[in-house]
Amino acid sequence: MIDTKLLKINDKSLEIARNYILDGEVVAFPTETVYGLGGIAFKDQTVKKIFEAKGRPQDNPLIVHVHKDYDVDKLVEVEHDYVYKLREAFSSGPLTMVYKSRGVISPVATCGLGTVGIRIPSHSGASEFLKAVDVPIAAPSANASKHTSPVTAMHVYEDLKGKIPLILDGGKCDGGIESTVLDVTTDTPIILRSGLVTAEMIKKVVGKCEYSNNKPTDKVRAPGMKYQHYTPKCQTALFRRKEIEKAQKLYDESVKNGLRVYFMCDDGIASFLSGNKLKLGKNATEIAFNLYDMLHEAEKVCDLLIAFDVDTGSDVDVGIMNRLTKACLRF
Ligand code: TXA
Ligand code: MG
Repeated sequence: MIDTKLLKINDKSLEIARNYILDGEVVAFPTETVYGLGGIAFKDQTVKKIFEAKGRPQDNPLIVHVHKDYDVDKLVEVEHDYVYKLREAFSSGPLTMVYKSRGVISPVATCGLGTVGIRIPSHSGASEFLKAVDVPIAAPSANASKHTSPVTAMHVYEDLKGKIPLILDGGKCDGGIESTVLDVTTDTPIILRSGLVTAEMIKKVVGKCEYSNNKPTDKVRAPGMKYQHYTPKCQTALFRRKEIEKAQKLYDESVKNGLRVYFMCDDGIASFLSGNKLKLGKNATEIAFNLYDMLHEAEKVCDLLIAFDVDTGSDVDVGIMNRLTKACLRF
């Protein structure tokens, strides 16, 4: 067991983080989406430590993070000119672009795919950390594989204590769901994982954008999308918005059977339900911000979480529903 330090971000803790990183160790750090667990992206041994700490399947590649002054083109080849427009519009921020790799990133991180996802986080703590180390950092979300993604330093601590030496605490992440993963190796950019940068936002800049709609038989484009994910440790039941009565019945019966039960829903539906509630908020931004925090809260306070589909009319709903349907079992 390693002693896991939890330190607020300042000059001193950044120096400690830098020493760990340059020594080949892994460090958790905040970003504007979720916390990441990072290590030098060039070192096979370090990248292996990341997979081990998370218990992550070996065929799920890691995103590489750099600060905004880093020359990304040392790592990747730009094959389409629209990439420059996307960089201008969305770097830094919650967008990961998957490029053809120049082969300098560890094949353990890319799972030998020949492509690599690069992200430039906008979070001030993340940029300070990335500037302090000044090397590309491979980092998945800093949770145990399959568990709900961490949006506070405490969430990271609960999952990874004893397994990593340091967590940099930058408070609660303000985006709340992971970055949009966009394949830019094709003529038309393809969204492999939805997030806060939506297809409509990309279309406005590039003129075109598609969603990856893999059939089960296709070669999976974003390997992470095939796994069960984001699940809290309590039981879950996900209902459609029109199934309020059915959900209330399950709630009442479960309470009668001695279970601790909570609803999790947006503010619009909350007023039609009676019982314990975790309210996600009134619009897509609030819901994305609260989603993982409430899934973490749910596993502490209840045995059964009864959740509802989200439909706010925003394009961000696609990313929220992607997480929700993986985190919760459809009833
Ligand atoms: O917001 C985020 O993206 C956070 C923070 C820490 O930056 N990171 C994150 O990493 O969510 P992770 O490992 O939990 O998810 C990365 C996703 C997975 O679905 C993975 O399969 C996909 O990105 N991915 C990474 N590299 C890829 C590549 N070369 N080709 C296709 N998909 C890739
Ligand atoms: Mg993850």
